[in-house]
Amino acid sequence: MRVELERCGPLRGEIEPPSDKSISHRAVMFSAIAEGTSRVSNFLHAADTLSTAHAMRSLGVNVQDDGAGLLVHGVGLRGLQEPAGPIDCGNSGTTMRLLSGLIAGQGFFALLSGDESLSERPMGRVIEPLRSMGATIMARNNDTLAPIAIRGGNLKGIKYSTPVASAQLKSALLLAGLFAQGPTEVIEPEKSRDHTERMLPAFGAQVEVDGLTVRLEPPESLRAVDIEVPGDFSSAAFFICAALTVPGSEVLIKDVGLNPLRTGLLKVLGSMGASVQVLNQREMSGEPVGDVLARHCALKGVEVGPDVVPSMIDEFPVLCAVAATASGTTTIRGAAELRLKESDRVSAMAEGLRAMGVGVEEFDDGLCIEGTEALKGARVHSRGDHRIAMALSVTALAAEGNSTVEDAEAVDISYPGFFETLQGLVVGG
Ligand code: S3P
Repeated sequence: MRVELERCGPLRGEIEPPSDKSISHRAVMFSAIAEGTSRVSNFLHAADTLSTAHAMRSLGVNVQDDGAGLLVHGVGLRGLQEPAGPIDCGNSGTTMRLLSGLIAGQGFFALLSGDESLSERPMGRVIEPLRSMGATIMARNNDTLAPIAIRGGNLKGIKYSTPVASAQLKSALLLAGLFAQGPTEVIEPEKSRDHTERMLPAFGAQVEVDGLTVRLEPPESLRAVDIEVPGDFSSAAFFICAALTVPGSEVLIKDVGLNPLRTGLLKVLGSMGASVQVLNQREMSGEPVGDVLARHCALKGVEVGPDVVPSMIDEFPVLCAVAATASGTTTIRGAAELRLKESDRVSAMAEGLRAMGVGVEEFDDGLCIEGTEALKGARVHSRGDHRIAMALSVTALAAEGNSTVEDAEAVDISYPGFFETLQGLVVGG
């Protein structure tokens, strides 16, 4: 699908972003291995999280969808069954990496595959420590790329220092740790998102967090719990940034998850001079949430270093979009992980912004963007990456003339209805 966009009038109104992707994945997986039935309200109905629901069904779990959410009939820690065929994780790194950890603890065989993008993403980072816990794992390209073949069982807990701050890696090891003999300890170089550590204790697991170390004691069993999934900050980010860049805009985004390990973008936008207010702060299923009010204002370029990277890892594409309209230069460093996402996001944003007339210099671990008032519409490519499709669409709203976003259907990975929601905010649109 190709979407045509042009410079638009102000964006005004109120929206609720789609439910949090990371929390939806975890809620289904953890409920599946608990005893009893868990309700997951506001489950994200998008391609990635449906890959996880589908995977759990193929492991023998009854997952019912009643429109308002999912009812997951847990089979307990020892109740998963060998899947009859390969498990297709689609485009979802979270599905593949977390499932690798889960299956490493089972006494059966499973094969995990994914789409073209997922088949090129690094899996050695989970395979290596899961093997040292005792799982038998083989994979393509010298055991680094999907498909991944796993024969699990008889794990022992490990103490493992991860080479990168990755919540997917940390969560994979903690999931394997549920089935291991002895505790599992994961030590990160920087803190990554902690949804797993927040949610597992609600199911009755004993998880201790001490600075950069997370320690899990294998439980006898997990118990079902109801979870209400907050809105996804990473999806809200596109509308926060669109409101900031389109003159005259004011958008209220309701019920957004505000986990501090996800909201690094707000800090960076603050240092660019943005007017973003957080209102009505409260808690939902152990996660901070609130409403976010964003208004258009003049922004200035900023330097973003490695310290903030894990807390805004998914927001870099849209930060690049904002930087393209800010005065002065924005430099992003220490973000080499961006090249290993659903696409090489450094190269994808550099290409898209250059096509729109922005000066961009690429580094191995980031990029430097010269903001301009003379953005021009262009034909740009999502590279099949949902966040690139949405970020370049935000840029297109501030560009003179028409833009075309190719392969725009990628938004369905995390934000079905993105373009309709955007259209609904355009005054006079
Ligand atoms: C996620 C962790 C992050 C993030 C991804 C979702 C998760 O990936 O980019 O969109 O749900 O744990 P990494 O663990 O690779 O940093």
